[in-house]
Amino acid sequence: MSEPRKILVTSALPYANGSIHLGHMVEYIQTDMWVRFQKHRGNQCTYVCADDAHGSAIMLRAEKEGITPEQLIANVQVEHSTDFADFLVEFDNFHSTHSQENRELSSQIYLKLRDAGHISQRSVTQYFDPDKQMFLADRFIKGTCPKCAAEDQYGDNCEKCGATYAPTELKNPKSAISGATPVLRDSQHFFFKLPDFQDMLKAWTRSGTLQDAVANKLAEWLDSGLQEWDISRDAPYFGFEIPGEPGKYFYVWLDAPIGYMASFKNLCARRPELDFDAYWSKDSTAELYHFIGKDIINFHALFWPAMLEGAGYRKPTAVNVHGYLTVNGQKMSKSRGTFVKARTYLDHLSPEYLRYYYASKLGRGVDDMDLNLDDFVQKVNSDLVGKVVNIASRCAGFIHKGNAGVLVAENAAPELTDAFLAAAPSIAEAYEARDFARAMREIMALADRANAFIADKAPWALAKQEGKQDEVQAVCALGVNLFRQLVIFLKPVLPKLAADAEAFLNVAPLTWDDHKTLLANHTLNPFQALMSRIDPVKVQAMVDASREDLEASQAPAAPAGNGELSKDPLSPEIEFDAFAAVDLRVALIVKAEHVEGADKLLRLTLDIGDQQRNVFSGIKSAYPNPAELEGRLTMMIANLKPRKMRFGMSEGMVMAAGPGGEEIYLLSPDSGAKPGQRIK
Ligand code: 2FM
Ligand code: ZN
Repeated sequence: MSEPRKILVTSALPYANGSIHLGHMVEYIQTDMWVRFQKHRGNQCTYVCADDAHGSAIMLRAEKEGITPEQLIANVQVEHSTDFADFLVEFDNFHSTHSQENRELSSQIYLKLRDAGHISQRSVTQYFDPDKQMFLADRFIKGTCPKCAAEDQYGDNCEKCGATYAPTELKNPKSAISGATPVLRDSQHFFFKLPDFQDMLKAWTRSGTLQDAVANKLAEWLDSGLQEWDISRDAPYFGFEIPGEPGKYFYVWLDAPIGYMASFKNLCARRPELDFDAYWSKDSTAELYHFIGKDIINFHALFWPAMLEGAGYRKPTAVNVHGYLTVNGQKMSKSRGTFVKARTYLDHLSPEYLRYYYASKLGRGVDDMDLNLDDFVQKVNSDLVGKVVNIASRCAGFIHKGNAGVLVAENAAPELTDAFLAAAPSIAEAYEARDFARAMREIMALADRANAFIADKAPWALAKQEGKQDEVQAVCALGVNLFRQLVIFLKPVLPKLAADAEAFLNVAPLTWDDHKTLLANHTLNPFQALMSRIDPVKVQAMVDASREDLEASQAPAAPAGNGELSKDPLSPEIEFDAFAAVDLRVALIVKAEHVEGADKLLRLTLDIGDQQRNVFSGIKSAYPNPAELEGRLTMMIANLKPRKMRFGMSEGMVMAAGPGGEEIYLLSPDSGAKPGQRIK
């Protein structure tokens, strides 16, 4: 027997300011399946992850919500952990980059790099927001594209013409945070001298650690020469202060991958069998794998191995890169309802359906993967319900009825059990190589053979014939055994199905090697339905709910029926100037009508004296007969920036109170007020 391998596995750390969606799940599901496979095989495999908690986006979002960044990341950590657990993604540890372990490791790695001469300093000129008193990352600057003159473009690229440029080239730049005109200001920055590692990286990226397509992409970057990497940001910033450099913080991407180490270190403190140094020291014999998406290759295959090398740690065994998710052949889209959050999926469908579907489509490559919703229903129903579970449900009844639930010892088709045994190494090889699609194809080919055998023997017909009872038992006992083999092969993908099957089979948790034996003279537990078919109505409901999510979050009226107000009883204080900047007007509702295809919105035509405005408002649940609103006065915010919605442009917001649903109360002025009058 060979020694169990020591394997440490990570998935990219999700940002702590957004929800997990089905695109993220491509990575977590595939990593989890690979980890479960390794554990199933008896290896010592450890899977760690964490929330990526630092950076200005998180700082600003917390500020907007009127909470501290610590509160925000704590809330999001609960949401993320629950989503992952409910998708049966089983981390050994899900930590946070805002942790003591990460603070210590980040400082220590930085100091080692600095002391070895791999850190430089120089002054950098950047846009600075004079109102917020902070430097602005490119995505927080908006202005007019210098190439095509499109307005409202980000500081580094134009969504209209695709041009890329420096933020200083943008015309009429504005801070996206405060609206102020930014000014150029100098500041001292710290750089990691990546070019020091050029030769090491050339060798490492070609040492079999990366898929060919990834190694080729990196070769292009390496051949064009590496640049020093800016690893500091100025206060205010949510992160770790750089040791000895007050007011300077580590850029989020410096401490994010160190978060892998920190999560593992945190786990070591409660798992005596895990030794931090045995996994991370330069001479470690443990294996280290990072699963990532193709958008963050440079961080994991250039900066990260260079940081590890420079600080005296081991480098990754491999970085496993995957492509993006498309849904129905297109980019996930909020308006089409295909931008599906993990929780919305789980509200409608079982996690194992998606785990199996992703497995059936995931190869070793970096190509994008399509979730075709019709194919999803068809494949899951046909393979899992129609082929795998069906074997057990067709055989169990005869064994309970005819032999008190006991499997007879006779093997009715040794050539079939031999074929299953012979297929196992190739299936294991496919899992090991992360070619889940091949593993699933080979497993389903076995399921087809098992079904053909049962169909051929037709125990339901034999059971009606005199003297055929022994044959019925032999056929059905083999059917159940073949089902058990399939469950063993599928267990990394379908852990819940496996647990339910173990209960039915009346066996201890199955391991990979159990496929080498058969159950004989063994009593089964009563059969319970193991998996039901996907009802396409539920898939449609999930899509509708994803569309509605958006509608609710875009609806201009504050209460919009989403209960937002009741969750947030007291907003943070604002200055008088902020209030004075809001142009509140009396508005006459000239027309109020339903919006085709929108569950929550009404279209209001509002007269504000000198002009008419078109406003979409999420008040339909309270005003199912919109005509009754016509002729009524209300109040609106007239200088809200127009918003493009799925149904057209919304040019303002009407004001309403209440928790949502039927309890939305449109505000009205006393009689005598005239349309267009300003509310002060
Ligand atoms: O791209 C992202 O979502 C990052 N939060 C991934 C970080 S992975 C690791 F390096 F921490
Ligand atoms: Zn442009």
